[in-house]
Amino acid sequence: MPQAEIAHGALPVLRTMLLQWYEAARRDLPWRQTSDPYAIWVSEIMLQQTRVAVVIDRYRAFLERFPTIRALAEAPEQDVLALWSGLGYYRRARMLHKAAQFVVEHGDGMLPTTAEELRTLPGIGAYTAAAISSIVHNERVAVVDGNVERVLCRLQGWSASRRSGGTTLRKKVEALATVLVDPARPGDFNQAMMELGATVCLPRNPQCMLCPLVAMCDTKGEHATAPRPRMLSEEVGRCLSVRLRPNSKVATREVLLEQRPATESVMPGLWELPLLHEADFLERDLCMTVRHAIMQVNYYVRVRNVPERKVNSLTVQNGERKWVALGLAGEMALTGLTRKILQRAHLIGVRASNVSSSKEKEIVKN
Ligand code: ADE
Repeated sequence: MPQAEIAHGALPVLRTMLLQWYEAARRDLPWRQTSDPYAIWVSEIMLQQTRVAVVIDRYRAFLERFPTIRALAEAPEQDVLALWSGLGYYRRARMLHKAAQFVVEHGDGMLPTTAEELRTLPGIGAYTAAAISSIVHNERVAVVDGNVERVLCRLQGWSASRRSGGTTLRKKVEALATVLVDPARPGDFNQAMMELGATVCLPRNPQCMLCPLVAMCDTKGEHATAPRPRMLSEEVGRCLSVRLRPNSKVATREVLLEQRPATESVMPGLWELPLLHEADFLERDLCMTVRHAIMQVNYYVRVRNVPERKVNSLTVQNGERKWVALGLAGEMALTGLTRKILQRAHLIGVRASNVSSSKEKEIVKN
């Protein structure tokens, strides 16, 4: 039991130091100004795999459009996906929507209060359940995300050896986190641990001089951990075809979009620019290159301006296609990559919240 590895007398000191630091240093984030379980649930789902800077405005826009569980449950899925656009990992939005419908149908719109019950809802795993129940209801359960895991591994000098493997380490970390969580203020304690990992105990260049736990830390900085899986890279071509709306007296521009089939495992139902047969084409036809990371793959996306008459011969048709007025396209459930390309091409507006959610870089060719 890893409890022995933090001396019993050190526990109250660790909790006090961490909570005092959190009170002074915590970021003023919108989901920290509410005790509404629904709002906290939305924030925790958005914060999975997405940076705080990206989440802030998306969170505000989402709650403005869907202020209650009921409003979310009653909304069409395409509206929910459209509001999620730019956050990536759309399965989270679908599950949130399904869970809201379930709660309205079976729980009269009230979320369960314990972590155990919360986990029975679609899309709510151990992490989200513990975050909601500790923050809203002060249940004494530990939240372990990647940041907390890093803090605890550094604190204890634990590295994932090849032999011990990730699962054993994860179990040790979860057991330790459970011992550490402050029974008097579990929600604040969990948020403080996550905050420490996100702002001080950084993956590279940890700021040990600012750390409230440095005196009891075994490594005081970086130490050997299991190597990260290598990113793969793939080159693809996307078709950007814009036309004037035919037979219309008003000059409206339309862009060709294609809907990903419902059977796709990734981003089903979202709208995107058609895929080109070839990513390899003449430089003079290239209008933009975008790097877009999705999970373990870096996509180097070469975008080509294609006149309407050449669309069929140059593209692969994979779903239903539609010419969409540019004024409407920005409101649709677009893939993050499609929104980025249309914005970079100045075809749709940049939303206030448009901080990039992944680490893409692009080269725009004029
Ligand atoms: N990451 C995910 N949820 C968080 C929270 N409530 N506080 C700090 N970081 C987080």
